[in-house]
Amino acid sequence: MEYKIALIRGDGIGPEIVEEAVHVINTIGRRYGHQFIYTDVDLGGCATDKYGVSYPEGTAEKCKACDAVLLGAVGGPKWGPDKPAEQRPETALLAIRKDLGLYANLRHATLRPALVDASPLKKETAEKGIDIMMVRELIGGIYFGKRGRYETEDRGVECTDLMAYSEMEIERIGRRAFELAQKRHKRVASVDKANVLETSRLWRATMHRIAADYPDVELEDVLVDNCAMQLVRDPSQFDVIVTENMFGDILSDEASMVTGSLGLLPSASIGSHAPALYEPIHGSAPDIAGQDKANPIATILSVAMMFKYSFDLPQESEAIEQAVDAVLAAGWHTADTMGSDDKLVGCQEMGRLICEELER
Ligand code: IPM
Ligand code: MG
Repeated sequence: MEYKIALIRGDGIGPEIVEEAVHVINTIGRRYGHQFIYTDVDLGGCATDKYGVSYPEGTAEKCKACDAVLLGAVGGPKWGPDKPAEQRPETALLAIRKDLGLYANLRHATLRPALVDASPLKKETAEKGIDIMMVRELIGGIYFGKRGRYETEDRGVECTDLMAYSEMEIERIGRRAFELAQKRHKRVASVDKANVLETSRLWRATMHRIAADYPDVELEDVLVDNCAMQLVRDPSQFDVIVTENMFGDILSDEASMVTGSLGLLPSASIGSHAPALYEPIHGSAPDIAGQDKANPIATILSVAMMFKYSFDLPQESEAIEQAVDAVLAAGWHTADTMGSDDKLVGCQEMGRLICEELER
C-alpha cells in the first residue's frame, strides 16, 4: 500500500523529532512493504518567518490531500503572545485543528515498564500501573468562543472568553470515549465542573443520555478539581477520561508527567473525515532546540498511533511500541528520562536505536 503523509516539522525541536519519526516510518515501510510519500507543510513560527503568517493559505488543503498528518511542535519566545494573532504559532495550531474538524484528541498516558523510576509518584503508587486514554474535546469550548476586550468606566479594561458547548459537540466526543472504552477496560470517567458551570451541566446530562447505548461501559462523573487530585493520588483508577477542551489541556499535561516524562506521550487528533493529525503532546522546547538533546519517543509513538488509527495497521503499530520499550529496557535514555544506571543518548541516536530494534 501507498500512504501520503503531511509533515509539519514546525519550530524548536520539531524538525529534529520529526526527522527521527520519518526514519521509523521508512524502516516500517521496508520491513512490511509499504510506500510512504511525504509532503512538507509550513505551519507555526517558521511559517511566520517565511511568509509573515503562521497559517499560510492552502495549509488545510495540502493536509487534506494526505492520508495523515504528522506534526512535531510549534511555538517559541520569538513569536510570543504580544505578537498579532496571525503571526502566533498557536493560532495556526488551533486553525488546523478546526479546519480539519479534529474534534477528538486522544492522549494516551501509559507508564512504560522501564520507566517506573522516572515517575515522580511514590514507587508503590507508580507500580500499580498507569494506562489512561485521555479523550479531550479539541475544537470547541473556551478555545474557540467569542473573545472581547473593552474599556469600562470604573474598572479599567475588561475581557471575556466565552465557553459554549452544544449537545451535538458533547455527544460526538462522548460517543468516541465510550467506543474506546469498549475496546479497553470499559470504564469512562467524564470530567466536568457541573457544580458551577452550565456547559458542564449539559455535558453531564448528555454523557448520561448516551451512556444508555453502551450498557457494557461504566460511567462515572468526576469534578475537574477532584480529577486533578486523583491523578496524583492514584492514577491506576482511570481507564478512559473524557473532558472538554481546556480541562483536557491541563489534565493531559498532568497525566503525562505522572508517567515520567512529557517527552513520552503521543496524541492523535481525529475527526469525522481523514486525515487525522498526530503529534507529541509536549511543546517545541526552544531551550534545547538544535542540540540533539530532545526525546523523539513521543513523536515516534505518535507514528504508532497513526499506523493504528489512520492506516489500520495494528501489527506495525505494535512493532513500534515494542521497539521503544526494548530500547528503554536496555537502558538507553535521553536526558529527560535518565536514571542513575542508564546510558545517555541524543535524539538521533535514540531514533537510530529504535530503527535498529525494528530491523531485528
Ligand atoms: C496542547 C497545547 C496547545 C493547546 C497550545 C500550544 C495552543 O498546549 O496541544 O496541549 O492548548 O491545545
Ligand atoms: Mg497543552
